[in-house]
Amino acid sequence: VQYEYIKVDKRGEKKNVGLIQLNRLKALNALCDGLVSEIGEALQEMETDTSIDAIVITGSERAFAAGADIAEMKDKSFQDCYARKFLSHWDIISKCPKPTIAAVNGFALGGGCEVAMMCDIIYAGEKAKFGQPEITLGTIPGAGGTQRLTRAIGKSKAMEMILTGEFMSAQEAEKAGLVSKVFPVEELVGEAIKLGERIGEFSQIAAAMCKEAVNMSDELPLSNGLLYEKKLFHSSFATDDKREGMTAFLEKRKPDFKDN
Ligand code: HXC
Repeated sequence: VQYEYIKVDKRGEKKNVGLIQLNRLKALNALCDGLVSEIGEALQEMETDTSIDAIVITGSERAFAAGADIAEMKDKSFQDCYARKFLSHWDIISKCPKPTIAAVNGFALGGGCEVAMMCDIIYAGEKAKFGQPEITLGTIPGAGGTQRLTRAIGKSKAMEMILTGEFMSAQEAEKAGLVSKVFPVEELVGEAIKLGERIGEFSQIAAAMCKEAVNMSDELPLSNGLLYEKKLFHSSFATDDKREGMTAFLEKRKPDFKDN
């Protein structure tokens, strides 16, 4: 498939990590409708491609994404937004069943920060800047910023960022728990791909179940979340991969998972 706003590739020694690179450099990867639609198409393709175990989403060194496209939004009315469900197609990113890693260099602002937070893990380059500057435009975060940022870093820090529009550095973001690791700018994407490869070594059924259970922790009260986890844990005992993993451990050899 030929894309206009993104580049896609398969990386890693086994070519089992899908890479989606946002490629609208002139506008700092502002997330116009076409760009987000293409991310959705690429994700759906990678979802059905059984050779792909994990997906990395990245931007350029200057910007992961500087937000939703302000030029596209400027003249939009409430009626347009409501009738055409503005931004609803962004949800594809958070619904991807395969592990997703955001590799953030440069600006991750507004919708850019929100896309990163839709991913399962965020790795950042040393110069990354996270922010929800919508208040400076007279609006509010609209793709999860008020919810996911608050869950990630707590109310006080999230309120401060969202009410001032001020940016958070990669180092602060790591300290606050928004980001799991920080790397030198040029090493970031390679490290994210290596992470995808590490996840890819395991049973992809187990990986999908881990992801599903962790994500449920955002949705459910503890007792229901624990029950949900237990049901998936029990379900994993139906797989060949569980037998293989435990047998390999006891035979002191490397498991050979078949994703079955
Ligand atoms: C459209 C954008 C853009 C955006 C940057 N550009 N961000 N275009 N939408 N979100 C364009 C600029 O207009 C400019 O185009 C070019 O990219 C380079 O940007 P500059 O501002 O010249 O670069 P710089 O001075 O380095 O400043 C970088 C920046 C700044 C700090 C990231 O661009 C900025 O503040 N951008 C907006 C950030 C923002 O408010 N994001 C939230 C958007 S609202 P030209 O043609 O002049 O070269 C949002 C709503 C979320 O995301 C709701 C749910 C998704």
